[in-house]
Amino acid sequence: MLQPAENPLLSETQIEEIVDRVAARIAEDYRGASIMMVGLLTGAFVFMADLARALSRYGVRIEEVDFIIASSYEGTESSRNVQILRDLRTDVQGRNILLVDDILDTGNTLLKIRRLLETREPSRLACCCLLDKPSRREVELDVEYIGLEIEDRFVIGYGLDYNQDYRALPYITEMVEK
Ligand code: IMP
Ligand code: MG
Repeated sequence: MLQPAENPLLSETQIEEIVDRVAARIAEDYRGASIMMVGLLTGAFVFMADLARALSRYGVRIEEVDFIIASSYEGTESSRNVQILRDLRTDVQGRNILLVDDILDTGNTLLKIRRLLETREPSRLACCCLLDKPSRREVELDVEYIGLEIEDRFVIGYGLDYNQDYRALPYITEMVEK
């Protein structure tokens, strides 16, 4: 049976440092500009909240925060057929869009959403993921900001779930056979 491992893979402090580092890079690239943040629910909700505040601390103006719900995982298997269950409230045309997700796995979800948003002609579109499992990638896509690359492990906590559970853990750990 899969259970959370006892030792965190990333502690609260380590996550804080990663988020701060990513925010600093984004702030550097968007000096003076304002950003609309678009998060992918549900996994991105914790990272979005911390990243939005970290960006504000670095002086980036967040003009709007909104979310897209895309169908995704069941258990630990990626579903390759991505569907939009909830779309944005406003138009993104001519705006700076920062698309935020928790973890990049096969890349199918983010690629689909990125392409969809590109058709709406934002002035600038960049993706930001807290974690990345590059060895799992099935598609080619640009992700401008990555917090940390990890090995092929199924991780939970800090928004990441296993069958909807464990999202509220303040640290990140992996599911292991016990
Ligand atoms: P992709 O389309 O295969 O890149 O799937 C990305 C989505 O799958 C992420 O937004 C997560 O919601 C979920 N996911 C991928 N890997 C993990 C993991 O290790 N733990 C929890 N969720 C994951
Ligand atoms: Mg997700």
